[in-house]
Amino acid sequence: MVFGAILAGGSGTRMHISNMPKQFLPLDDKPIIIHTLEKMLMCSKIDVIYIGVNPAWLGYMSDLLEKYELDFDDKIVLTPGGKNRNDTIFNIINEIEKKYGEDEENIIVTHDAVRPFVTLRILDENIENAKTYGACDTVISAVDTIVMSKDHEQIDSIPDRTMMYQGQTPQTFKINLIKNLYKQLKPSEKNILTDACKICVMKGAPVKLVKGNSSNIKITTISDYKIAQVIVGGNIAELEEEKQ
Ligand code: CTP
Repeated sequence: MVFGAILAGGSGTRMHISNMPKQFLPLDDKPIIIHTLEKMLMCSKIDVIYIGVNPAWLGYMSDLLEKYELDFDDKIVLTPGGKNRNDTIFNIINEIEKKYGEDEENIIVTHDAVRPFVTLRILDENIENAKTYGACDTVISAVDTIVMSKDHEQIDSIPDRTMMYQGQTPQTFKINLIKNLYKQLKPSEKNILTDACKICVMKGAPVKLVKGNSSNIKITTISDYKIAQVIVGGNIAELEEEKQ
């Protein structure tokens, strides 16, 4: 089976706009997370969608599902998020396996709740590549030169830009693979993980790249939120996808 996992366990501390986590802020006619959920629902390859929600906001999320008439219990399941992003993913995996058991072929499509402009093409390619390679990550080529500085004062190196990418989501995995690799990490290694694909990279497992989209932004700051409002107003996401 293919499981969607919408990661909505965060509280959006960098947004500084409201005491409400950013995934619940309005975008055009509905909250950001409802846009994201509707994109996942459009993907016919996804059987069930889990949403890992900040525990204090589970009731609110449940009300949103009812308000937008998306409260189909067999298709959309709410589960408490964890203390960090990877904990939210593993909470969801636990819930999936409690209900559906383990299966070598089960796939999880992890996606940030605050990336409402993901496209069907990106979701489809993630699922196909995870089936073939076990793990894949959505990326776009770096447009700016990347400068590395260990002391945050001086440049140590400037890597070749043609080899640099910016990570987006979805990140998609065979559930058994990501679970087994995570188990092999030491607590100190788990603490420095900023991203789920790094679990594979640290253990030397291949991660296939899937081409993302420059419109597939993560809404992190107020300026991202303003850009998102322009995108929904101007249909930029759809236009860019057509150009590819
Ligand atoms: N996320 C999650 N569980 C956590 C932390 C984050 O599911 N414990 C999710 C967020 O809800 C978001 C995605 O991971 O959809 C990307 O994280 P980020 O943009 O860092 O979100 P926040 O943690 O909410 O933001 P901030 O770092 O500004 O507090």
